[in-house]
Amino acid sequence: MATSISSSSSFLRFSIGLSAFLCLILCSLAVRDTKTNLPSRTYTVEVISLLPANTCRPSTNGHDNKAASVLKVVHKHGPCNQVHQLKSNSNPSDQDEYHIQILKEDEARVHSIHSHFNDPNNNYGIPDPVAQSDATVIPAQSGSVLGSGNYIVSVGLGSPQKQLSLVFDTGSGITWTQCRPCVGSCYRQKDPIFDPSISTSYSNISCNSAACSQLAASGVASNCSGSTCIYGQGYGDGSFTVGFLASEKLTLTSTDVFTGFVFGCGQNNQGLFRGIAGLIGLDRSKISLVEQTAQKYNRFFSYCLPSTSSSTGYLSLGNCANGRSGNAVKFTPLTTLSQDASFYGLGLVGINIGGSQLPISASVFSTSGTIIDSGTVITRLPATAYTALRDAFREAMKRYPTAKPIFSLLDTCYDFSGFKTITLPTIGFVFGNGVTVDVDETGILVQQRASQFCLAFAGNKDDRSVGIIGNVQQKRLQVVYDVAGGKVGFAPAGCQ
Ligand SMILES: *[C@@H]1O[C@H](CO)[C@@H](O)[C@H](O)[C@H]1NC(C)=O
Ligand SMILES: *[C@@H]1O[C@H](CO)[C@@H](O)[C@H](O)[C@H]1NC(C)=O
Repeated sequence: MATSISSSSSFLRFSIGLSAFLCLILCSLAVRDTKTNLPSRTYTVEVISLLPANTCRPSTNGHDNKAASVLKVVHKHGPCNQVHQLKSNSNPSDQDEYHIQILKEDEARVHSIHSHFNDPNNNYGIPDPVAQSDATVIPAQSGSVLGSGNYIVSVGLGSPQKQLSLVFDTGSGITWTQCRPCVGSCYRQKDPIFDPSISTSYSNISCNSAACSQLAASGVASNCSGSTCIYGQGYGDGSFTVGFLASEKLTLTSTDVFTGFVFGCGQNNQGLFRGIAGLIGLDRSKISLVEQTAQKYNRFFSYCLPSTSSSTGYLSLGNCANGRSGNAVKFTPLTTLSQDASFYGLGLVGINIGGSQLPISASVFSTSGTIIDSGTVITRLPATAYTALRDAFREAMKRYPTAKPIFSLLDTCYDFSGFKTITLPTIGFVFGNGVTVDVDETGILVQQRASQFCLAFAGNKDDRSVGIIGNVQQKRLQVVYDVAGGKVGFAPAGCQ
């Protein structure tokens, strides 16, 4: 993946701190840049490096520290996911359908996050858990999906251990798996499921247990069926899971095994689950994996999301700071949003493009607040901030032919057919403590079809809805959550 910061950028950086004589030259360069509106920091990217290959090429990232439990992360659709593959094949209308579907799922997820922030008591209108727990078949709303992220890990559940592919999600709390096949509008009936009757370590959790009474505080609906605790979790788009709250043996790696792990054994699961067996919740609520393993990992985890679906990343639980060398992690304080303390808030105050900060008042970001989410695809910015970023991006990209967007969420698209390499302005998040984190060169654009790509940011409808740093912009970064230390950090080039 040919990365090169443009020579004018290296020159600028090299020159900083040199004599006044050199500064004169630097200044004239800066003036020239302003005149022609050329961004001073750019990436030169091979178009082909933005596309997945047909075969899986796993990352070798040396992330194998004894102090941490490291799981391989793969994209749900692509050659690295052996469980299930939804190919974006060469038929152009199928490809459009595939990309539109991902963006629709993303809109549904963000809509549910926004409506939840506007009304924290909104539990996404899930049906009554008791009425649903007998697996009554209700057709899911058409087009309804489990809008919960694209990256999966494999973990072992039960005794004997069953290996399950689960989406991991920093925007959800409860971990659950399908204990009965999906009903209604499912992607296919042969979804992998967990059968509690063949596990010797499974037990139901009773209604009067502490775990059951903690569900409400974790944003999960609960009720009783006889003495068994029932959980219900909806995802805002018509998809939901309802079932028994249970405890099981969870095997992350051969050395990291947790007995009595509390999870949802889904009896009625509706939505397009697409070959995944369920979800791992990594938010800040009591029920999440992060909290349940706090004794061992001290609320510390990190991940790296691969650049394309043909490479792999990792999810690492526990502090592996001494396991990796080289990359300095830049930290910014973790903040808590008053509307929902389970999300990971960050103090975003500005956006850089091409090395200069856009003139956006910091109050635009402080009004909305910002969260980082592994499950949202496209980064959402306050409307004012997005417009400023988009205009500057269009200016920097004006030498390239534009393309008509295939879905309304994205409005700045280009046709790179005929270009072997393209030059992109760098884009960075500026945080309140002075730290700036540059998005990787593979985290600026998303493919819409063939050689057409769009700016992978979108605007909220106003400046009041919460901003979300999505997973495209997290690609290839090592993202470190030090929850106990109250900070989140980023380092470049954590995986392929
Ligand atoms: C769990 O509870 C449900 C509902 O009460 C019951 O049908 C099931 O047999 C229980 N499973 C075990 C292993 O106790
Ligand atoms: C539990 O279910 C019953 C019967 O459906 C319902 O009336 C009650 O409101 C539910 N309680 C909670 C806490 O959801």
